Amino acid sequence: MSTVNFVARICALLLGLALAAVPPGYPQEPEAPDGEQAAPVPVEQPLPYSHKTHVALGIQCRDCHAIADPGFAAGYPPEATCMACHASIKADSPHIQLLAKLNSEGAAVPWKRIYRVPDFVWFSHASHVEDAGVECETCHGPVAQREVLFQEKPTTMAACMECHARNNAPNDCDLCHDPG
Ligand code: HEC
Ligand code: HEC
Ligand code: HEC
Ligand code: HEC
Ligand code: HEC
Repeated sequence: MSTVNFVARICALLLGLALAAVPPGYPQEPEAPDGEQAAPVPVEQPLPYSHKTHVALGIQCRDCHAIADPGFAAGYPPEATCMACHASIKADSPHIQLLAKLNSEGAAVPWKRIYRVPDFVWFSHASHVEDAGVECETCHGPVAQREVLFQEKPTTMAACMECHARNNAPNDCDLCHDPG
Protein backbone atom coordinates (compact mmCIF):
# COMPACT_ATOMS: atom_id res chain seq x y z
CA MET A 1 0.00 0.00 0.00
CA SER A 2 1.35 3.45 -0.84
CA THR A 3 2.12 5.88 1.98
CA VAL A 4 -0.47 8.32 0.60
CA ASN A 5 -3.16 5.65 0.65
CA PHE A 6 -2.16 4.65 4.10
CA VAL A 7 -2.29 8.19 5.45
CA ALA A 8 -5.68 8.80 3.81
CA ARG A 9 -6.99 5.56 5.23
CA ILE A 10 -5.76 6.16 8.76
CA CYS A 11 -7.11 9.76 8.73
CA ALA A 12 -10.52 8.50 7.64
CA LEU A 13 -10.40 5.87 10.33
CA LEU A 14 -9.35 8.36 13.01
CA LEU A 15 -12.16 10.69 11.92
CA GLY A 16 -14.59 7.78 12.08
CA LEU A 17 -13.37 7.01 15.57
CA ALA A 18 -13.76 10.63 16.68
CA LEU A 19 -17.30 10.79 15.25
CA ALA A 20 -18.21 7.59 17.03
CA ALA A 21 -17.06 9.35 20.23
CA VAL A 22 -14.80 6.54 21.35
CA PRO A 23 -12.93 7.64 24.46
CA PRO A 24 -9.21 8.41 24.14
CA GLY A 25 -6.93 5.44 23.91
CA TYR A 26 -7.99 2.64 21.65
CA PRO A 27 -11.20 0.86 20.69
CA GLN A 28 -12.47 -1.59 23.28
CA GLU A 29 -13.96 -4.97 22.48
CA PRO A 30 -17.54 -5.34 23.58
CA GLU A 31 -17.51 -7.62 26.61
CA ALA A 32 -19.48 -10.85 26.60
CA PRO A 33 -22.00 -11.12 29.44
CA ASP A 34 -20.66 -12.99 32.49
CA GLY A 35 -20.26 -16.71 32.06
CA GLU A 36 -21.14 -16.58 28.38
CA GLN A 37 -18.65 -17.15 25.65
CA ALA A 38 -19.17 -16.46 21.99
CA ALA A 39 -19.84 -19.82 20.34
CA PRO A 40 -16.89 -20.87 18.17
CA VAL A 41 -17.65 -20.69 14.48
CA PRO A 42 -15.80 -23.49 12.67
CA VAL A 43 -14.75 -22.38 9.23
CA GLU A 44 -15.91 -24.70 6.47
CA GLN A 45 -12.90 -25.43 4.29
CA PRO A 46 -12.79 -26.83 0.74
CA LEU A 47 -11.23 -30.05 2.11
CA PRO A 48 -11.85 -31.72 5.50
CA TYR A 49 -8.24 -31.12 6.59
CA SER A 50 -7.59 -31.93 10.26
CA HIS A 51 -4.68 -30.41 12.22
CA LYS A 52 -5.23 -33.02 14.94
CA THR A 53 -4.69 -35.93 12.52
CA HIS A 54 -1.68 -34.40 10.77
CA VAL A 55 0.19 -32.96 13.77
CA ALA A 56 -0.20 -36.39 15.46
CA LEU A 57 1.81 -37.86 12.56
CA GLY A 58 4.75 -35.82 13.84
CA ILE A 59 4.72 -33.04 11.21
CA GLN A 60 5.85 -29.73 12.74
CA CYS A 61 3.94 -26.46 12.31
CA ARG A 62 6.84 -24.89 10.43
CA ASP A 63 7.11 -27.85 8.01
CA CYS A 64 3.81 -26.64 6.57
CA HIS A 65 3.86 -22.95 7.59
CA ALA A 66 7.39 -21.98 6.60
CA ILE A 67 7.44 -18.22 7.48
CA ALA A 68 9.37 -17.60 4.25
CA ASP A 69 11.28 -14.32 3.69
CA PRO A 70 10.46 -11.49 4.29
CA GLY A 71 8.64 -13.20 7.14
CA PHE A 72 5.30 -11.39 7.30
CA ALA A 73 3.23 -14.48 6.49
CA ALA A 74 3.32 -17.93 8.04
CA GLY A 75 1.80 -19.06 4.75
CA TYR A 76 0.08 -22.23 3.56
CA PRO A 77 1.85 -25.42 2.49
CA PRO A 78 2.37 -26.07 -1.22
CA GLU A 79 0.06 -28.85 -2.47
CA ALA A 80 3.14 -30.90 -3.41
CA THR A 81 3.89 -31.20 0.35
CA CYS A 82 0.53 -32.89 0.81
CA MET A 83 0.96 -35.13 -2.23
CA ALA A 84 4.19 -36.57 -0.82
CA CYS A 85 1.87 -38.69 1.31
CA HIS A 86 -1.43 -38.49 -0.51
CA ALA A 87 -0.16 -39.84 -3.83
CA SER A 88 -0.71 -43.12 -1.98
CA ILE A 89 -2.56 -42.41 1.32
CA LYS A 90 -6.35 -42.26 0.81
CA ALA A 91 -5.81 -41.84 -2.92
CA ASP A 92 -9.34 -43.11 -3.58
CA SER A 93 -11.01 -40.45 -1.36
CA PRO A 94 -12.90 -37.80 -3.38
CA HIS A 95 -11.24 -35.11 -1.21
CA ILE A 96 -7.77 -36.40 -2.00
CA GLN A 97 -8.73 -36.68 -5.69
CA LEU A 98 -9.65 -32.98 -5.64
CA LEU A 99 -6.30 -32.21 -3.95
CA ALA A 100 -4.43 -34.26 -6.57
CA LYS A 101 -6.29 -32.52 -9.40
CA LEU A 102 -5.45 -29.03 -8.06
CA ASN A 103 -1.83 -30.08 -7.57
CA SER A 104 -1.53 -31.41 -11.12
CA GLU A 105 -2.97 -28.11 -12.43
CA GLY A 106 -0.50 -26.11 -10.33
CA ALA A 107 -3.48 -24.55 -8.52
CA ALA A 108 -3.71 -23.79 -4.80
CA VAL A 109 -6.48 -25.12 -2.57
CA PRO A 110 -8.72 -22.07 -1.96
CA TRP A 111 -8.41 -22.22 1.87
CA LYS A 112 -10.65 -19.75 3.68
CA ARG A 113 -8.74 -17.27 5.82
CA ILE A 114 -9.41 -17.39 9.55
CA TYR A 115 -6.95 -14.89 11.06
CA ARG A 116 -6.63 -11.61 9.21
CA VAL A 117 -5.67 -8.06 10.13
CA PRO A 118 -6.54 -5.10 7.88
CA ASP A 119 -3.97 -3.87 5.35
CA PHE A 120 -3.18 -0.76 7.41
CA VAL A 121 -1.78 -2.94 10.21
CA TRP A 122 1.88 -3.98 10.11
CA PHE A 123 2.28 -7.51 11.44
CA SER A 124 5.17 -9.92 11.02
CA HIS A 125 5.31 -13.61 11.95
CA ALA A 126 9.12 -13.58 11.87
CA SER A 127 9.26 -10.71 14.41
CA HIS A 128 7.03 -12.56 16.85
CA VAL A 129 8.04 -16.20 16.35
CA GLU A 130 11.75 -15.86 15.60
CA ASP A 131 12.78 -12.58 17.26
CA ALA A 132 10.42 -12.45 20.25
CA GLY A 133 10.04 -16.25 20.70
CA VAL A 134 6.22 -16.21 20.93
CA GLU A 135 4.63 -19.67 20.43
CA CYS A 136 2.04 -20.23 17.69
CA GLU A 137 -0.46 -21.42 20.33
CA THR A 138 -0.30 -18.11 22.22
CA CYS A 139 -1.98 -16.36 19.27
CA HIS A 140 -3.85 -19.27 17.63
CA GLY A 141 -4.87 -21.57 20.51
CA PRO A 142 -4.39 -25.37 20.75
CA VAL A 143 -4.32 -25.97 16.99
CA ALA A 144 -2.81 -29.45 17.38
CA GLN A 145 -5.99 -30.59 19.16
CA ARG A 146 -8.41 -29.19 16.58
CA GLU A 147 -10.15 -31.15 13.84
CA VAL A 148 -11.44 -27.87 12.39
CA LEU A 149 -9.97 -24.44 13.04
CA PHE A 150 -11.87 -21.33 14.01
CA GLN A 151 -10.74 -17.98 15.32
CA GLU A 152 -10.26 -18.59 19.01
CA LYS A 153 -7.92 -15.71 19.86
CA PRO A 154 -8.62 -12.07 19.06
CA THR A 155 -6.51 -10.02 16.63
CA THR A 156 -7.95 -6.72 17.82
CA MET A 157 -5.81 -3.69 18.53
CA ALA A 158 -6.62 -4.08 22.24
CA ALA A 159 -5.32 -7.68 22.17
CA CYS A 160 -2.08 -6.67 20.43
CA MET A 161 -1.48 -3.74 22.80
CA GLU A 162 -2.32 -5.74 25.92
CA CYS A 163 0.36 -8.33 25.12
CA HIS A 164 2.87 -5.63 24.17
CA ALA A 165 2.26 -3.85 27.49
CA ARG A 166 2.71 -7.12 29.41
CA ASN A 167 6.01 -7.80 27.61
CA ASN A 168 7.38 -4.24 27.76
CA ALA A 169 7.20 -4.13 23.96
CA PRO A 170 6.59 -0.70 22.35
CA ASN A 171 2.99 0.50 21.82
CA ASP A 172 3.47 3.66 19.74
CA CYS A 173 0.83 4.09 17.05
CA ASP A 174 3.42 4.00 14.28
CA LEU A 175 4.81 0.64 15.44
CA CYS A 176 1.76 -1.09 13.95
CA HIS A 177 0.43 1.60 11.61
CA ASP A 178 3.43 3.00 9.76
CA PRO A 179 5.07 0.54 7.40
CA GLY A 180 7.64 3.17 6.38
C1 HEC B 1 0.50 -30.99 7.12
C2 HEC B 1 0.54 -29.54 7.05
C3 HEC B 1 0.18 -28.71 8.25
C4 HEC B 1 0.70 -28.79 9.53
C5 HEC B 1 1.71 -29.77 10.10
C6 HEC B 1 0.15 -27.67 10.26
N1 HEC B 1 -0.72 -26.97 9.48
FE1 HEC B 1 -1.75 -25.29 9.97
N2 HEC B 1 -2.73 -25.32 8.21
C7 HEC B 1 -2.54 -26.27 7.21
C8 HEC B 1 -3.57 -26.10 6.20
C9 HEC B 1 -3.75 -26.96 4.97
C10 HEC B 1 -4.38 -25.02 6.63
C11 HEC B 1 -5.65 -24.47 5.93
C12 HEC B 1 -6.86 -25.28 6.39
C13 HEC B 1 -7.33 -24.94 7.77
O1 HEC B 1 -7.53 -23.76 8.09
O2 HEC B 1 -7.52 -25.88 8.58
C14 HEC B 1 -3.82 -24.55 7.88
C15 HEC B 1 -4.31 -23.47 8.60
C16 HEC B 1 -3.73 -22.99 9.78
C17 HEC B 1 -4.15 -21.80 10.49
C18 HEC B 1 -5.27 -20.86 10.07
C19 HEC B 1 -4.74 -19.90 9.03
C20 HEC B 1 -5.72 -18.82 8.68
O3 HEC B 1 -6.41 -18.95 7.68
O4 HEC B 1 -5.80 -17.84 9.41
C21 HEC B 1 -3.37 -21.68 11.59
C22 HEC B 1 -3.44 -20.59 12.64
C23 HEC B 1 -2.48 -22.81 11.60
N3 HEC B 1 -2.72 -23.58 10.48
C24 HEC B 1 -1.55 -23.06 12.59
C25 HEC B 1 -0.82 -24.23 12.70
C26 HEC B 1 -0.05 -24.61 13.87
C27 HEC B 1 0.09 -23.77 15.11
C28 HEC B 1 0.50 -25.84 13.60
C29 HEC B 1 1.34 -26.70 14.52
C30 HEC B 1 0.69 -27.07 15.80
C31 HEC B 1 0.08 -26.21 12.26
N4 HEC B 1 -0.73 -25.23 11.76
C32 HEC B 1 0.46 -27.38 11.58
C33 HEC B 1 -1.53 -27.20 7.16
C34 HEC B 1 -0.74 -27.57 8.23
C1 HEC C 1 3.04 -37.39 6.45
C2 HEC C 1 1.97 -37.79 5.54
C3 HEC C 1 0.86 -36.76 5.26
C4 HEC C 1 1.00 -35.49 4.76
C5 HEC C 1 2.27 -34.73 4.43
C6 HEC C 1 -0.34 -34.99 4.59
N1 HEC C 1 -1.25 -35.92 4.97
FE1 HEC C 1 -3.29 -35.76 4.89
N2 HEC C 1 -3.49 -37.54 5.81
C7 HEC C 1 -2.46 -38.37 6.17
C8 HEC C 1 -3.00 -39.51 6.89
C9 HEC C 1 -2.21 -40.66 7.50
C10 HEC C 1 -4.41 -39.33 6.93
C11 HEC C 1 -5.46 -40.22 7.60
C12 HEC C 1 -5.84 -41.27 6.63
C13 HEC C 1 -6.92 -42.16 7.19
O1 HEC C 1 -7.90 -41.65 7.76
O2 HEC C 1 -6.80 -43.36 7.03
C14 HEC C 1 -4.67 -38.09 6.21
C15 HEC C 1 -5.96 -37.61 5.95
C16 HEC C 1 -6.24 -36.50 5.17
C17 HEC C 1 -7.56 -36.07 4.74
C18 HEC C 1 -8.87 -36.80 4.98
C19 HEC C 1 -9.10 -37.63 3.75
C20 HEC C 1 -10.38 -38.40 3.80
O3 HEC C 1 -11.14 -38.35 2.81
O4 HEC C 1 -10.67 -39.04 4.84
C21 HEC C 1 -7.41 -34.90 4.06
C22 HEC C 1 -8.50 -34.06 3.40
C23 HEC C 1 -5.99 -34.60 4.06
N3 HEC C 1 -5.32 -35.58 4.73
C24 HEC C 1 -5.44 -33.47 3.46
C25 HEC C 1 -4.09 -33.16 3.50
C26 HEC C 1 -3.55 -31.92 3.02
C27 HEC C 1 -4.36 -30.79 2.43
C28 HEC C 1 -2.21 -31.99 3.21
C29 HEC C 1 -1.19 -30.92 2.92
C30 HEC C 1 -1.42 -29.64 3.57
C31 HEC C 1 -1.91 -33.26 3.81
N4 HEC C 1 -3.07 -33.94 3.98
C32 HEC C 1 -0.63 -33.73 4.11
C33 HEC C 1 -1.13 -38.18 5.90
C34 HEC C 1 -0.56 -37.03 5.40
C1 HEC D 1 1.87 -12.73 18.04
C2 HEC D 1 0.77 -13.49 17.52
C3 HEC D 1 1.02 -14.59 16.52
C4 HEC D 1 1.92 -15.64 16.58
C5 HEC D 1 2.95 -15.92 17.67
C6 HEC D 1 1.69 -16.45 15.42
N1 HEC D 1 0.70 -15.91 14.65
FE1 HEC D 1 -0.07 -16.66 12.94
N2 HEC D 1 -1.21 -14.99 12.68
C7 HEC D 1 -1.29 -13.94 13.58
C8 HEC D 1 -2.03 -12.85 12.96
C9 HEC D 1 -2.31 -11.50 13.59
C10 HEC D 1 -2.40 -13.29 11.66
C11 HEC D 1 -3.10 -12.48 10.57
C12 HEC D 1 -1.97 -11.86 9.74
C13 HEC D 1 -2.40 -11.02 8.58
O1 HEC D 1 -3.59 -10.82 8.32
O2 HEC D 1 -1.49 -10.53 7.88
C14 HEC D 1 -1.89 -14.65 11.52
C15 HEC D 1 -2.06 -15.46 10.39
C16 HEC D 1 -1.61 -16.77 10.30
C17 HEC D 1 -1.86 -17.67 9.18
C18 HEC D 1 -2.66 -17.32 7.93
C19 HEC D 1 -1.73 -17.09 6.74
C20 HEC D 1 -0.75 -15.98 6.98
O3 HEC D 1 0.46 -16.27 6.95
O4 HEC D 1 -1.14 -14.83 7.21
C21 HEC D 1 -1.25 -18.86 9.46
C22 HEC D 1 -1.21 -20.11 8.60
C23 HEC D 1 -0.61 -18.71 10.76
N3 HEC D 1 -0.85 -17.45 11.25
C24 HEC D 1 0.14 -19.72 11.37
C25 HEC D 1 1.00 -19.49 12.45
C26 HEC D 1 1.98 -20.45 12.92
C27 HEC D 1 2.22 -21.83 12.35
C28 HEC D 1 2.63 -19.85 13.97
C29 HEC D 1 3.83 -20.39 14.76
C30 HEC D 1 4.99 -20.81 13.95
C31 HEC D 1 2.03 -18.53 14.16
N4 HEC D 1 1.06 -18.35 13.22
C32 HEC D 1 2.38 -17.63 15.15
C33 HEC D 1 -0.75 -13.92 14.82
C34 HEC D 1 0.26 -14.77 15.28
C1 HEC E 1 1.63 -12.78 22.76
C2 HEC E 1 2.11 -11.41 22.80
C3 HEC E 1 1.99 -10.54 21.57
C4 HEC E 1 0.88 -10.36 20.78
C5 HEC E 1 -0.51 -10.97 20.95
C6 HEC E 1 1.25 -9.41 19.76
N1 HEC E 1 2.56 -9.05 19.91
FE1 HEC E 1 3.60 -7.79 18.68
N2 HEC E 1 5.30 -8.14 19.76
C7 HEC E 1 5.37 -8.89 20.89
C8 HEC E 1 6.74 -8.88 21.39
C9 HEC E 1 7.24 -9.57 22.67
C10 HEC E 1 7.49 -8.09 20.47
C11 HEC E 1 8.99 -7.79 20.49
C12 HEC E 1 9.23 -6.44 21.09
C13 HEC E 1 10.73 -6.14 21.12
O1 HEC E 1 11.28 -5.83 20.06
O2 HEC E 1 11.29 -6.25 22.19
C14 HEC E 1 6.54 -7.64 19.46
C15 HEC E 1 6.89 -6.83 18.39
C16 HEC E 1 6.00 -6.29 17.48
C17 HEC E 1 6.33 -5.36 16.42
C18 HEC E 1 7.74 -4.84 16.12
C19 HEC E 1 8.40 -5.84 15.22
C20 HEC E 1 9.77 -5.46 14.75
O3 HEC E 1 10.37 -6.32 14.06
O4 HEC E 1 10.23 -4.36 15.02
C21 HEC E 1 5.17 -5.07 15.75
C22 HEC E 1 5.00 -4.14 14.57
C23 HEC E 1 4.11 -5.82 16.38
N3 HEC E 1 4.64 -6.55 17.41
C24 HEC E 1 2.78 -5.79 15.97
C25 HEC E 1 1.77 -6.57 16.54
C26 HEC E 1 0.40 -6.60 16.09
C27 HEC E 1 -0.16 -5.77 14.95
C28 HEC E 1 -0.27 -7.49 16.88
C29 HEC E 1 -1.72 -7.90 16.85
C30 HEC E 1 -2.28 -8.32 15.57
C31 HEC E 1 0.70 -8.02 17.82
N4 HEC E 1 1.91 -7.44 17.60
C32 HEC E 1 0.39 -8.97 18.79
C33 HEC E 1 4.35 -9.59 21.50
C34 HEC E 1 3.04 -9.71 21.01
C1 HEC F 1 0.51 -3.36 18.75
C2 HEC F 1 -0.14 -2.95 17.53
C3 HEC F 1 -0.98 -1.67 17.51
C4 HEC F 1 -0.66 -0.46 18.07
C5 HEC F 1 0.52 -0.08 18.93
C6 HEC F 1 -1.73 0.45 17.67
N1 HEC F 1 -2.64 -0.21 16.89
FE1 HEC F 1 -4.29 0.60 15.98
N2 HEC F 1 -4.84 -1.22 15.29
C7 HEC F 1 -4.12 -2.39 15.47
C8 HEC F 1 -4.87 -3.48 14.90
C9 HEC F 1 -4.46 -4.95 14.88
C10 HEC F 1 -6.05 -2.92 14.34
C11 HEC F 1 -7.16 -3.67 13.60
C12 HEC F 1 -8.15 -4.15 14.61
C13 HEC F 1 -9.20 -5.03 14.02
O1 HEC F 1 -9.05 -5.54 12.92
O2 HEC F 1 -10.20 -5.21 14.74
C14 HEC F 1 -5.99 -1.49 14.62
C15 HEC F 1 -6.97 -0.59 14.22
C16 HEC F 1 -6.86 0.78 14.38
C17 HEC F 1 -7.84 1.74 13.89
C18 HEC F 1 -9.11 1.40 13.16
C19 HEC F 1 -10.17 1.22 14.23
C20 HEC F 1 -11.25 0.31 13.86
O3 HEC F 1 -12.28 0.40 14.55
O4 HEC F 1 -11.07 -0.52 12.96
C21 HEC F 1 -7.40 2.98 14.23
C22 HEC F 1 -8.07 4.31 13.94
C23 HEC F 1 -6.17 2.81 14.97
N3 HEC F 1 -5.86 1.46 15.03
C24 HEC F 1 -5.41 3.83 15.50
C25 HEC F 1 -4.35 3.65 16.38
C26 HEC F 1 -3.73 4.71 17.16
C27 HEC F 1 -4.16 6.17 17.14
C28 HEC F 1 -2.72 4.14 17.89
C29 HEC F 1 -1.80 4.77 18.94
C30 HEC F 1 -2.52 5.22 20.14
C31 HEC F 1 -2.70 2.71 17.55
N4 HEC F 1 -3.70 2.46 16.65
C32 HEC F 1 -1.79 1.79 18.05
C33 HEC F 1 -2.89 -2.51 16.09
C34 HEC F 1 -2.22 -1.51 16.77
